Amino acid sequence: MLNKIGVIGGGNIGGVLVQLLAERAYAKNVALVDVKGPDFAKGKVLDIAEGTAVIRTDVQVAGSKEYDVLDGADMIINTAGVPRAARPDGTLPSREELLTTNLKITDAVSAGIKKYCPEATVISIANPLDAIVYRLHQNLGLSRNKLMGMAGVLDSARYRYFIAQEAGVSVENIDAMVLGGHGDSMIPVRSACRIAGMPVEQFVSPEKLDAIEARTRKAGGEVVKLLGSGSAFVSPAQSALEMAEAIIYDKKKIIPVSALLEGEYGVNGLFIGVPALLGKNGIEKVIEMDLTDAEKEMFKNSAAAVQKTVDEVKAVNL
Ligand code: LAC
Repeated sequence: MLNKIGVIGGGNIGGVLVQLLAERAYAKNVALVDVKGPDFAKGKVLDIAEGTAVIRTDVQVAGSKEYDVLDGADMIINTAGVPRAARPDGTLPSREELLTTNLKITDAVSAGIKKYCPEATVISIANPLDAIVYRLHQNLGLSRNKLMGMAGVLDSARYRYFIAQEAGVSVENIDAMVLGGHGDSMIPVRSACRIAGMPVEQFVSPEKLDAIEARTRKAGGEVVKLLGSGSAFVSPAQSALEMAEAIIYDKKKIIPVSALLEGEYGVNGLFIGVPALLGKNGIEKVIEMDLTDAEKEMFKNSAAAVQKTVDEVKAVNL
């Protein structure tokens, strides 16, 4: 159990995170910061705090619009950013179009972390995912084990869910990884997808798999469109907590995360989704996975797409 986990951003994902953290007791203290004032974060946590008496937990939750509530946190989960919303004509902005707004927010987030919990391990969820993690890296200068983005757990969960539905088997039987950037170029790795240890192709036709993989790449947008405004929030919160749990309990669990690559997969200096072993030191190892030639090509294209957004990040000095 940690002493304190801080959640930045009290929107839909942040709210579910604080609720789940109170239920799961990964830390004695949970702190929420949301700049929406004057008392939004306080209201959000008071609701959850009152519920702790019902669920019988002594986890302490605190909320503030000031970053000092994060003082001394061991772990930070950053959700601060504006989510995608459907335009009046029904089309969606890409995650990348959120960039300028969310970079400004990320700079404020970085200043708060630097001041109050510079030693914290940071898991970031804000979009555009890989670019925002890069900005945090630029601002915070944390060692690579302590900073990561949450995307691969969610993208893999979606892939697994769609396959389970198609095959008519339990999601618990599906092992799969989605790698690459958290955008339309992500790579559902079919060659590593197994149903109860057997190749997925034994259960699902190549045509159906093509359709499932296309759906997976657009799955975030599918939820945004259906909701009308705001993005998915329950599954992203659960996904971030899978990473947090692996670190807090030193599970040595291999999970796809957006990690800073230092030559692995032929990429240097970019955050992008790869399998990583998570334990008490955060990212303890980046795992190189055998990919088919076609998957290697897709990874290369995905890295190029992430690089393009990161180049924009580098060009924006707010
Ligand atoms: C999604 C957002 C959270 O994929 O990126 O739903």
